Amino acid sequence: MEAAPEALSTLVDTRRVLVTVGAGGVGKTTTAAALSVAAARRGKRVLCLTIDPAKRLAESLGIAEMTTEAVTVDNARFEAAGVPMQGSLTAMMLDTKRTFDELVIRYSSSKEKAEKLLTNKLYKYVSTSLAGTQEYMAMEKLVAVKDDPRYDLIVLDTPPTANALDFLDAPERLMEALDSATMKWFIEAFQNSGKFSLNLIAKSAATVLRTIGKITGGGFLEAMAEFIAELNDLFGGFKERAARVQQTLRANDVAFVLVTSPTPPAIKEVLYFAERLDEARMPRGALVVNRFHVPPPYAEQGLSESDAAQGIAARGLTLEEDAPVRLVQAHGDAMKLAALDASNVRVLETNTRGMPTVRVAELETDVHDIALLARLSDVLMSGGV
Ligand SMILES: Nc1ncnc2c1ncn2[C@@H]1O[C@H](COP(=O)(O)OP(=O)(O)OP(=O)(O)O)[C@@H](O)[C@H]1O
Ligand SMILES: [Mg+2]
Repeated sequence: MEAAPEALSTLVDTRRVLVTVGAGGVGKTTTAAALSVAAARRGKRVLCLTIDPAKRLAESLGIAEMTTEAVTVDNARFEAAGVPMQGSLTAMMLDTKRTFDELVIRYSSSKEKAEKLLTNKLYKYVSTSLAGTQEYMAMEKLVAVKDDPRYDLIVLDTPPTANALDFLDAPERLMEALDSATMKWFIEAFQNSGKFSLNLIAKSAATVLRTIGKITGGGFLEAMAEFIAELNDLFGGFKERAARVQQTLRANDVAFVLVTSPTPPAIKEVLYFAERLDEARMPRGALVVNRFHVPPPYAEQGLSESDAAQGIAARGLTLEEDAPVRLVQAHGDAMKLAALDASNVRVLETNTRGMPTVRVAELETDVHDIALLARLSDVLMSGGV
């Protein structure tokens, strides 16, 4: 028999790492922040590894000027918002290029070699734009901080990928990109002649340049070949590292929190992602259905025009003549939306693969301050709407 699903509150209490994943814009960063606040309120020392949080939210936490260093939020900010804090919340912005730099330094055979690679004019482009680098570097950072004794819980936000699966495939995609035919071609062309033979280049350069994008400037191809040859020296290190990163995500003290919106395409994707987690033997934790439309007030009895007119009068409001009609229409739309979301989530709930589903209502505003984060953290810990 399958074990009973663990509530999000249990995951927060018992895991060392929580990873929020999901399609672009569904609420990964918000959920990561709310889970971090929830855990810190419960006494944990939390590190939230975040990517590009909304400016207003970062400001309200006092981390707007955040560099890529870890910044501990002053507990007085929580107290001031009426949110007593037992533990602590430290936030760190993930920086793809910097993580890549650190890897290059660690795996280069000498300081000079590392320096040469880091100052190569193509390096900056490759380290930030190659397929999978953002996602892979997020995982890298996780491995680097996972055993840090200063934290009890690490919450990892993941980059805004169009597709949640990009995250799982990142190490492979990165290795493939580095190891691709194009890259190999460059290395061979360079190594055979010591420097480029222009005849050779002429044959495939057009394809190669199309692949890489339009970079101009003198000595581009030589710089590229030299760069790839050097990066190639590090492949062994990277590959072994990628395997370790994947292994880290399989540990018992890790759980993935899958975030989705209540729309059918997002639900389909999140279910497929859960399946992929199973295949990869990675621990799925919970499903968060974010921005769920709850039924409006008076959902049961319905809202008539005279109810609406009475409500307007009772509040002493002076509105346009057609206000009651429009209110009734809006009420009907809200009812339809709620019914649609409920039916979509029912489909999800028949396929949750042993994960608890937590529904989080669409709030009236975006989540931009501590009070709203605390409200979301309550919803997440209590099992949803
Ligand atoms: N339950 C909610 N109610 C209202 N607004 C919400 C809710 N959850 C998230 N939002 C808002 O939706 C926007 C997108 O959320 P968020 O940045 O967390 O998504 P994301 O999945 O991290 O996006 P990306 O893929 O771009 O990283 C933010 O402005 C956030 O405040
Ligand atoms: Mg985000």
